[in-house]
Amino acid sequence: MDIGNILKNNQAWVKNKLNVDSDYFKKMSQGQNPKVLYIGCSDSRVTAEEIMGAEPGEIFVHRNIANMVVSIDLNVMSVINYAVDYLNVDHIIVCGHYGCGGVQAAMQSKDMGILNPWLRNIRDVYRLHKNELDKISDDQKKYERLVELNVQEQAINIIKTAAVQKAYRKKGLRVYGWIFDMYTGLLKDLNIDFEKILEKIMEIYHLD
Ligand code: CO
Repeated sequence: MDIGNILKNNQAWVKNKLNVDSDYFKKMSQGQNPKVLYIGCSDSRVTAEEIMGAEPGEIFVHRNIANMVVSIDLNVMSVINYAVDYLNVDHIIVCGHYGCGGVQAAMQSKDMGILNPWLRNIRDVYRLHKNELDKISDDQKKYERLVELNVQEQAINIIKTAAVQKAYRKKGLRVYGWIFDMYTGLLKDLNIDFEKILEKIMEIYHLD
């Protein structure tokens, strides 16, 4: 991507949209009503809207390194609370991806400076699932399983929030864990058992 082309690309995109619908931006400026919150990795290859075939206005998006949901991260927690309480989304997707550099870095014994506290959350996922992960002898398979377990744990972190628990009771808000498989381009639903997890963690994390 040539930086000089970006503005030109934008102008071509505007022209394209207006050719299809001359009121496109007039309608867009009137407000948003997305039904889905997507939390994914910042990785340049995992473009949220493009891989889901979504148009502007359809998905509320938050991306960070390794699609983490950390309870003291004001950024992600603001996004979740705003999406649930004000945008009234019906679905929250956590999407990880094979080939995730963040997860890979967390599997290495290396001082990464300011990234250490962020990546430590992934090391905690490893510790939680050490028994399962240590049984996998193939390094690539182990790494991919950690990507999946990380998605599962971040989905659980979402369920731990009061706003999500309230919206679940009020209108059946659901949380999903997905993987973008960049070897095939396909999205895979990890089929996280929302009710079962809720039941299991509620004894400790029940807020509402
Ligand atoms: Co990544």
